[in-house]
Amino acid sequence: VIVEKNIEDTRRIVNEWHRKGFSIGLVPTMGYFHNGHLELMKRAADTADKVVVSLFVNPTQFGPSEDLVVYPKDFDGDCAKAREVGADLLFCPEPDMVYAPRHCTEVSVGGLTEGLCGADRPGHFTGVATIVSKLFNIVRPNHAFFGEKDFQQLTVIRQLVTDLNFTVSIVGVPIVREPDGLAMSSRNAYLSPSEREAALVLFQALSRIKQEVLDSDGMRYAQDLLVKARELIETKPQCRVDYLEIVDEKDLSPVSAVKGKCRVLGAIRISDRIRLIDNLALYMAQG
Ligand code: PAF
Repeated sequence: VIVEKNIEDTRRIVNEWHRKGFSIGLVPTMGYFHNGHLELMKRAADTADKVVVSLFVNPTQFGPSEDLVVYPKDFDGDCAKAREVGADLLFCPEPDMVYAPRHCTEVSVGGLTEGLCGADRPGHFTGVATIVSKLFNIVRPNHAFFGEKDFQQLTVIRQLVTDLNFTVSIVGVPIVREPDGLAMSSRNAYLSPSEREAALVLFQALSRIKQEVLDSDGMRYAQDLLVKARELIETKPQCRVDYLEIVDEKDLSPVSAVKGKCRVLGAIRISDRIRLIDNLALYMAQG
């Protein structure tokens, strides 16, 4: 795997690949790779001729009281893992190369970013949309791969691509879970053993909702399902619900009755310190 910090050199490499007619798959990441990231890279390697993985802990998507400075890092481990799954180029620029001192342009996606994680993390999705737009312009990928764990992010990026006429095709990749069901996340590294145990309650609460929806022959009301899920989460003293919502998958609008392609999305805070998210499709065959 080629490791490249420089934007111009990265452009030169990908331009050469484009000139030769290779298709390019981009996997944007913030590093500290787990199997969820590796799954994105494998999908990219199956889909495209060349795989570019970007590794950049993007400062503009973190709020002032969030975990930017302590975000877990393992650069050597990441290089080895990316190599193993067939990445061709690891692009890991420094923050001051990505954001010049006088940069003053942001990409802001309206509507979709107001609720859910957007309500708890003002400015977060503007940071994400800005860096993803920059990566699309630097790498000019044919395909880009994002995990469904960040379902709102995936929806925002699809909207961004439509609205700004990017030509990349966006591929959403299902969540990779630990054997007990906890969604893989770099932030799981922050959990103590007792917090790790408590954290599983989010997946359990979402799974209970899914089970109730799949088991029922009539229509289910979102509020009834959500109240019970919230109660289950609150049985864990370390856990606090940030949000729990059932939404229409296509535009993330909250639904009152569960029918069609709905998804339950949740975020919890553990020990007031660690914020974890997860989601499940409330219909058969996917998620
Ligand atoms: O999902 C992430 O890791 C980040 O939000 C992304 C897409 C790499 C942008 O910084």
